[in-house]
Amino acid sequence: MRFGSRVATRCAVGVALVPVALSTAVLPASAAPQDQAAPSAQAQEDRSSGPAIRNGLRTVTPDDLVIGTAVAGGGHHEEADYPDPFTRDPRYRKVLATEFDSVSPENQMKWEFIHPEPGVYNFGPADAIVAFAERHGQEVRGHTLLWHSQLAEWVTEGDYTDEELRAILEEHIRTVVGRYKGRIDQWDVANEIFADTWDDGGVRLRDGSTGATANVFIERLGPGIIADAFRWAHEADPEAKLFLNDYAVEDIGPKSDAYYELAQQLLAEGVPLHGFAFQAHLDLQFPFPETLDENMQRFDDLGLETAVTELDVRFTLPEDGVPTAEQLAEQADTYQGVLEACLSVDECNSFTIWGFNDKYSWVPSFSPGQGAATVMFEDYERKPAYWALHETLAEASGR
Ligand code: XIL
Repeated sequence: MRFGSRVATRCAVGVALVPVALSTAVLPASAAPQDQAAPSAQAQEDRSSGPAIRNGLRTVTPDDLVIGTAVAGGGHHEEADYPDPFTRDPRYRKVLATEFDSVSPENQMKWEFIHPEPGVYNFGPADAIVAFAERHGQEVRGHTLLWHSQLAEWVTEGDYTDEELRAILEEHIRTVVGRYKGRIDQWDVANEIFADTWDDGGVRLRDGSTGATANVFIERLGPGIIADAFRWAHEADPEAKLFLNDYAVEDIGPKSDAYYELAQQLLAEGVPLHGFAFQAHLDLQFPFPETLDENMQRFDDLGLETAVTELDVRFTLPEDGVPTAEQLAEQADTYQGVLEACLSVDECNSFTIWGFNDKYSWVPSFSPGQGAATVMFEDYERKPAYWALHETLAEASGR
């Protein structure tokens, strides 16, 4: 089903990631609390009734789709001058609960965060998110297991044999996936495993053969480790849907073609791959990925689910830092276009935006000068992008 037509002129941009220092208290697994919210934040969560949240996005989302967001915490938030959003901002929790029916830990399940030292797991914050989701009838997307970035230093700097490295990855995947068995709907098993287009126009795995940051597991153990990661995750939680996830794959092109081939190969080998996910970190200075729907459809035709997992739409802010009406309108159009692509594909069942409030967005710290990439201003006022999603969902669901 296609909802209206739109003129689109923008496209995805690749984003360079840098590891972020870890400054979270480390809890042994056995001491992990069920929910780390400060009592005051949690108590206010159900009482407070912010404006315009009675019919949040989740109330108008079609039954065969979940509308999700990242749950702020860890990563760039640790350097910020505000208190931890998820545990200390009651308004944040209220909006999180009322607007969304899926949540993705923004950093709290990444290796450097959840497994910062050998044999030490920091499950507390992830446990709290999963518990919150269950209380509010929300799905959880696990993010992420095999990734070159935000990997613990003890893994990248350690002097391990290939066999040891393989065992480290296997133990990590079985432990993290196993802990949340039956409680996580989708896992981003492999994240950003292809490097951006190389000089010769080709796309390669992050195997150390290009200038791109290598994925140490692929570099040392070969591409077969990707299939193994999926197999281990599947054994640890046979019900979870297992995904490949990346940026700059929205359009049909060399990078998404590489994934299309890999997906076919993995499926032919009987690897438990269930979906392909589009991060969709978009930027108004590039054309809209016009072939997104077609691209999603070809993965759907392979029998895979598709998902939008990290949508945000950045642009260069005017000098006064205040977005213009035109920028906000273009941004709304872009959010809507990505949602429409998802709605047009049968098995695009999960649509996640990467945060919902500009105050907590990762964009300004990673792309200085750019920002305002989410659907709400810092005071939670809804932007045109929010209403574009709301209307498009309502139209699709008939609510
Ligand atoms: C980002 C987080 O939003 C930041 O808090 C963190 O500092 C860096 O990572 N692709 C991904 C996400 O798969 O995990 C990244 O999240 C954004 C790009």
